[in-house]
Amino acid sequence: MAELPVNPLLAAQGTYPFVRLTQAKQAAAERGIEIIDLGVGEPREATPAFINEALIAALLAEPVSTYPLAVGLPELREAAAAWLHRRFGAQVDPDTEVIPTYGSKEAIFTLAQVLVANGRGDVVAVTTPGYPVPARGAEFAGAEVAELTLTQERGWLPDLDAIPWKRLALLWINSPGNPTGAVAPLPWLAEAAARCREHGVVLASDEAYCELYFGAPPPSALQVGERSGVLAFHTLSKRSSMPGHRSGFVAGDRDLVELLRRFRPSLGTAPQAFVQRASVAAWREEDHVDEARARYAAKRDVLLPALQAAGLEHVGGDASFFLWMRVPDGDDEGLATRWLEHGVVAAPGSYLGPGGEGHLRFALVPTVKACERAAELVARLGT
Ligand SMILES: Cc1ncc(COP(=O)(O)O)c(C=O)c1O
Repeated sequence: MAELPVNPLLAAQGTYPFVRLTQAKQAAAERGIEIIDLGVGEPREATPAFINEALIAALLAEPVSTYPLAVGLPELREAAAAWLHRRFGAQVDPDTEVIPTYGSKEAIFTLAQVLVANGRGDVVAVTTPGYPVPARGAEFAGAEVAELTLTQERGWLPDLDAIPWKRLALLWINSPGNPTGAVAPLPWLAEAAARCREHGVVLASDEAYCELYFGAPPPSALQVGERSGVLAFHTLSKRSSMPGHRSGFVAGDRDLVELLRRFRPSLGTAPQAFVQRASVAAWREEDHVDEARARYAAKRDVLLPALQAAGLEHVGGDASFFLWMRVPDGDDEGLATRWLEHGVVAAPGSYLGPGGEGHLRFALVPTVKACERAAELVARLGT
């Protein structure tokens, strides 16, 4: 075939900057450098055994493999709603206000397809530096993307007065934030929801890291008094160390969930029934979440003082498993390259979008022992 037909949106999307980091990491490993990877934000904790036991039991109990329905198992929707009530005091109807998702990434990517009309000039606002998936999904849906640059002065939250409300269809927020770890306080969430309602905009709140906190438990957008126009995205990937299982849910405004119930059967991304049953076990149990939080806290207690002693300033919030640090001379890529030569890998903030320059993101995902070793190294290396 002479030339493949390619969606111009795909052709236009640049190489993910993290590819550069992966190549540099591989090259360093080939030179015999022992790598401690704090650069990639993927949990590397063992999934609690009781969750996998529930998965295996469910798999064996249903020898005939069937297609999972997009609406999910009622038990899973009930477990999710019960967790939202326990954790946030939010009353959510499991039958009409919750729908399971295959992790949260695909649901975040596809939401714009549900809301945006191609050619209408709809705008989707995303925050930067940030998780790139909301913007990529919006582009593929044919929306115009408005980037809202986050700053430390505003607590790494978007300035609600600077949002282009005209033509806006969807506002994405992420609290606790990747990469900043910043938490949106409940009054700010309520204000954001009210402004969205006023302008007929959907507020999509990515709450993937809400269970990883070191201060007060972060609130949910589902706690705002009036929930119309609000959707919250949750996942077991971080909370229950299940990134490979692919299990999450979306909850909120009944009319929006109804749209997802209409859209999602075409996607075919409902989690497998045995994953859904394992997820029921995971949402019902909190001890393993306390334990995970304690492990992340131990890593943070080891690494944060060492990074500060090396000359980096902690400018992020106190949630998520990220440490968001300002580099003294602003050269994030330069310092990342120098430390990589000694095995300590961090993500340059400039890879995470405009506004990220001059910062490094450290993901507390290696073992406590590896974090101790990284702490020794950075204390010795300095900036
Ligand atoms: C901010 C944020 N949201 C959502 C996700 C998606 O996670 P998952 O698809 O595993 O639920 C990630 C994963 O890294 C993330 O960083």
